[in-house]
Amino acid sequence: MDRRAFMKSAGAGMLVAGSGLAWAQSTTRALPILPLTDLIGGIEDRISLALMPSGHDFGTGAKSQTFGINHDYLGPVLKVKQGQTLPFDVTNNIGDTSTIHWHGLHIPGDVDGGPHQEIEHGFKWTPDVPIVQRASMNWFHSHMHGKTAQQTYKGLAGVLLVEDDASLSADLPKTYGVDDFTLILQDKMFDAEGKMAYELSAAVFEDGFEGDTLVVNGAIAPVAQTVPTGLVRLRILNACNARFLGLSMENGPITVIASDGGFLSSPVDAESILMSPGERYEVLVDMKAFEANALNVNLNGNGGGFFANLFGGNQTTTALSLTRSATKGFDGAMPTQLANLEPPRPDEASVTRSFQLEMDIGADLAALALAWDNFCGDAGAMAINGQPMKMDRIDEEVRKGDTEIWRISVDDQLHPFHVHGCSFRILSQNGRPPPAYAAGWKDMVHVAEGWSEVLLRFDYDAPKDAPYMYHCHILEHEDCGMMGQFTVS
Ligand code: C2O
Ligand code: CU
Ligand code: CU
Repeated sequence: MDRRAFMKSAGAGMLVAGSGLAWAQSTTRALPILPLTDLIGGIEDRISLALMPSGHDFGTGAKSQTFGINHDYLGPVLKVKQGQTLPFDVTNNIGDTSTIHWHGLHIPGDVDGGPHQEIEHGFKWTPDVPIVQRASMNWFHSHMHGKTAQQTYKGLAGVLLVEDDASLSADLPKTYGVDDFTLILQDKMFDAEGKMAYELSAAVFEDGFEGDTLVVNGAIAPVAQTVPTGLVRLRILNACNARFLGLSMENGPITVIASDGGFLSSPVDAESILMSPGERYEVLVDMKAFEANALNVNLNGNGGGFFANLFGGNQTTTALSLTRSATKGFDGAMPTQLANLEPPRPDEASVTRSFQLEMDIGADLAALALAWDNFCGDAGAMAINGQPMKMDRIDEEVRKGDTEIWRISVDDQLHPFHVHGCSFRILSQNGRPPPAYAAGWKDMVHVAEGWSEVLLRFDYDAPKDAPYMYHCHILEHEDCGMMGQFTVS
């Protein structure tokens, strides 16, 4: 029995929408190049981001109901430079209250776009966002408390690339859409008509929403792209609600050059990398070495769980296939040195805080799923340190400029933990040193067993009425209360 048949027969409480694997396998599509807004040369006007309802064909032939930011699904790729201030005009016309959070940016709480900076339908939010940090791949998405999962799934997400003098002059591929690609990876569920589906159930509350179809930049995988001979750069965001993705190359190792918050000290070759929702990695593909290559994604990147084990595990899909053309592209060699990355200095920490992520704190998840009409609200079925997220409760107060160690642990399954307002270094992940590709600047850490520890420092203010968040980035867990708030002053 295949997964879909099983889920149908499993009946009540299970999501039965999918026929996605069939959609996925039928065709190879061209890689959609997300529209680029390149502001490196200067910013003359305010930057408009219009949140709106729309329709989008993922490749099934049917128009799904989506949200988009200036586009019918997802937002533009914004390319900006360290030292700029970004004057945003974010208008919301989705018919519901929303927010736009700048995930990964080192910015004060009042422009962070978290749950306290709500934009009502028909209104405009006009933050001036200062870019002080080093070159890094960041993103923006809805952070509307209780509805983050639903709104982000529908398309309220985009990429924000920060460049700096070093990255702009680095000997790396940087011609957008030619040898430098931005990839937004998501998993979707489609109904029998080919329309994107999102339904909450008890199972979804447990694991978060997982679709069976991989989508790249809004097109059902596999997608294909012809590239010049030479090095090709892929800047990859896992924008799934809940799914961990295992990434590898068809030929050769996967060569990682940057993580969430910036470049690694030198390229790291790995057999595969595990990417949680919210994480970003940049990789280089050597198209001199192979005529063709492909980025493969294992949808059971988290090592399985119930369904994976039941159906025999490894579900690997080609996300992007690359074919070399005769055109000469970026001519440089694989870099040996990327950035000056000092080892983390835990001895500098003056404060240690502990966070325990908790599931199912006494609420009936199945009942919740039905009652809440596809959103969690203040249901509070999940918690951190025994407290479900409350908008009017500050959980931690941090002193600006202090170096701190945060120790995060969980009761059972794997959770990706994210902190606003900073990049941090992972000291240990599940009781072990992080893999080399995750040893640089991060704002996400995996927490499954033992302690995960990060070393962080906050340099900007986050007052009581505009606190930062820390949370599980499985969006259904976050919506359900696995989130807390902290001030910095
Ligand atoms: Cu990407 Cu608080 O979020
Ligand atoms: Cu964030
Ligand atoms: Cu979680």
